[in-house]
Amino acid sequence: MAQMLLVSLVSLATLVAGSWVDLDPKLLPTIEGSLPVLQLGSPTFLPIGLLNSIVGNVVPNVTFNDGASNITAYSGEVLAGLVNKETGETSVYGDYASTPPATTGIDVGKALDFVKPGSAGFPADDTTISIVKGPTLRGATLHVDQNDPIEEATYLTQGFVQRSIKAKNGVLYPVCGPGSQASFGVGAGNKVVSVSYLWKPAKIGGQEIKPNSTKIAVDTIKAALLSWTTGDEGVGVYEIDVCFYDSGVSFLQPVYRVLAQTHLARDGSSTVNANRLLHYFPIGAGSPEPLPNVFPDNSTSGGVPGEPQGNVTARSLSEELDVRSSPIQARGVKPEIKVGRYIVRNDSSEAAFLYNAHGFWSNLASSSVFAFQNTQFYWHYPFIYGNSANMYINDVHLALTEAHGAFHLFTTLSNCCDVVRIPRDLQSTGYGTAAGGHGGRFRLGFWIINACEVMPVSLDFTLLEPTLAQRKARAFDPWRPVLAGGIHGIMSWRTSPFFADNTPQTVANLIAQGRGVVSSWLWAAATDPVYRHSSMYIGQTSRMNQPHGRASSIYPCDRANSNVLQTVELGRPTCLEMRYYDNTVW
Ligand SMILES: *[C@@H]1O[C@H](CO)[C@@H](O)[C@H](O)[C@H]1NC(C)=O
Ligand SMILES: *[C@@H]1O[C@H](CO)[C@@H](O)[C@H](O)[C@H]1NC(C)=O
Ligand SMILES: *[C@@H]1O[C@H](CO)[C@@H](O)[C@H](O)[C@H]1NC(C)=O
Ligand SMILES: *[C@@H]1O[C@H](CO)[C@@H](O)[C@H](O)[C@H]1NC(C)=O
Ligand SMILES: *[C@@H]1O[C@H](CO)[C@@H](O)[C@H](O)[C@H]1NC(C)=O
Ligand SMILES: *[C@@H]1O[C@H](CO)[C@@H](O)[C@H](O)[C@H]1NC(C)=O
Repeated sequence: MAQMLLVSLVSLATLVAGSWVDLDPKLLPTIEGSLPVLQLGSPTFLPIGLLNSIVGNVVPNVTFNDGASNITAYSGEVLAGLVNKETGETSVYGDYASTPPATTGIDVGKALDFVKPGSAGFPADDTTISIVKGPTLRGATLHVDQNDPIEEATYLTQGFVQRSIKAKNGVLYPVCGPGSQASFGVGAGNKVVSVSYLWKPAKIGGQEIKPNSTKIAVDTIKAALLSWTTGDEGVGVYEIDVCFYDSGVSFLQPVYRVLAQTHLARDGSSTVNANRLLHYFPIGAGSPEPLPNVFPDNSTSGGVPGEPQGNVTARSLSEELDVRSSPIQARGVKPEIKVGRYIVRNDSSEAAFLYNAHGFWSNLASSSVFAFQNTQFYWHYPFIYGNSANMYINDVHLALTEAHGAFHLFTTLSNCCDVVRIPRDLQSTGYGTAAGGHGGRFRLGFWIINACEVMPVSLDFTLLEPTLAQRKARAFDPWRPVLAGGIHGIMSWRTSPFFADNTPQTVANLIAQGRGVVSSWLWAAATDPVYRHSSMYIGQTSRMNQPHGRASSIYPCDRANSNVLQTVELGRPTCLEMRYYDNTVW
């Protein structure tokens, strides 16, 4: 369906010159009558006894302690849970990489039986709630030197509280946006092992919003999305629904939620699957609160990437044997962690990629645990990953790549060109302390590739490979040479993320607090509010109908819980683990 639509849009578009936005007015849902604005009350809190029992499921004997501005639970020096006393925002961070498999099935409804209208965390108001089963965290293990089959397992299921509003026109509209957030990880034995919660009671206030005419709505949305195009490229809208946007501040307001694809070419060709857009528009005049900007802040206050200076094989090794092979650790001194950020060149979505890179950095920089160094911030070229990797990506501890992607590749120029294929165009010895030899001079510990569909899993090869064994091999094989260098974790997406997400910022915040890197990536993606809906698209390579924003990761088996400091010499791993979210939607 989505694919057919794109084809017809593209042929229509060939009639006009310049950039364009395609929006079939039939996608716009009809709204009968006006829709109300709801006013938010004071934040609500989950009972501390409940939170203590949940955090105890993650780290035995750890409980929450009341502080001046927030309530915290620490496992040693690592933050395990946080309640902000002012906003009510509550997190219990699950350990998503080393959690045990759930062998007997997971019953989300049973595990979340404390979620009831009128209970402490979910006060009775003018909204309704229901529990929905979200994506399931699955995984596969590969014993590299044995001929064992790759084992698959289920680890946990994300349960969400879906909030809705029954309008006078009889339609039940979902609530969307960051403000109504109640997401719980449910693991083995139906134990709740993570919480992400932010809630305020909502009352119908009297104000109503009358929808704009279809023509105005179509023109408004098209005009706004034009800022995502340049030159001879188009944006195609493929889905619109109506939801009530909860800012988490003062109001719930009716909006159109618009999903669109960027980087459409006139001939319908595209090398890669561009990130997708998700934007909210007020349905009519009188919006009580501003919605997020359609185009990200493109001011360059966070700095602009530099041009990397050389395309050379590693600098002369005799010149310096850097003794800082692992991060500095001395009493009272924050350990130094080198960070590299690499951004696609000459792309029409440049502002969005930079926005992610800036947010990633500012969250790291605020760390009270580590001294992150902004060592490399570059427009990227293949040599950063390939023949000069030991000067670039393999010379930092933590790397972020912002680019367009497809199965096992990403672009370094626009959405088409100077493609880096995995593993072909990466350093042949892999990344990590073992990759360069030379006393651990080289060191990449963790690599986040924030690009579409770069890390498919066996499920994504369902229509491409006849046997399960082949599908699993296709998922693992490209990464094996990379991990042979001793890198501790690689994180990406199996399905396309939205530019509007907050995952790069959230993962950086958790990394900065000393939490396990892989686990933080999986948690950040699973709790990101922009992925809490059931829209689907056809995967560019998988050709399957699939949801947006499903994260994936691969790491050596015993490294599941490494934090950014724990990048000791690993050598070539004998066992690899993939963890990812499946295609469950509700
Ligand atoms: C937790 O506390 C109980 C009772 O105080 C004790 O028996 C147990 O050893 C503790 N477990 C851990 C992991 O500290
Ligand atoms: C607790 O709250 C204060 C003030 O809002 C904030 O600065 C601090 O970072 C918070 N603590 C944690 C662990 O997030
Ligand atoms: C509807 O009109 C209002 C006021 O002119 C405008 O702010 C809003 O963006 C419009 N929304 C759509 C979807 O047309
Ligand atoms: C930011 O985007 C706006 C709107 O697309 C554009 O007019 C402006 O020139 C851009 N500024 C920078 C610094 O790129
Ligand atoms: C870097 O060097 C390699 C071979 O030495 C060459 O193939 C490639 O084109 C160069 N890339 C750039 C961007 O100069
Ligand atoms: C940059 O992109 C524009 C179109 O968006 C294209 O015309 C130009 O040739 C590109 N530059 C390079 C160096 O590829």
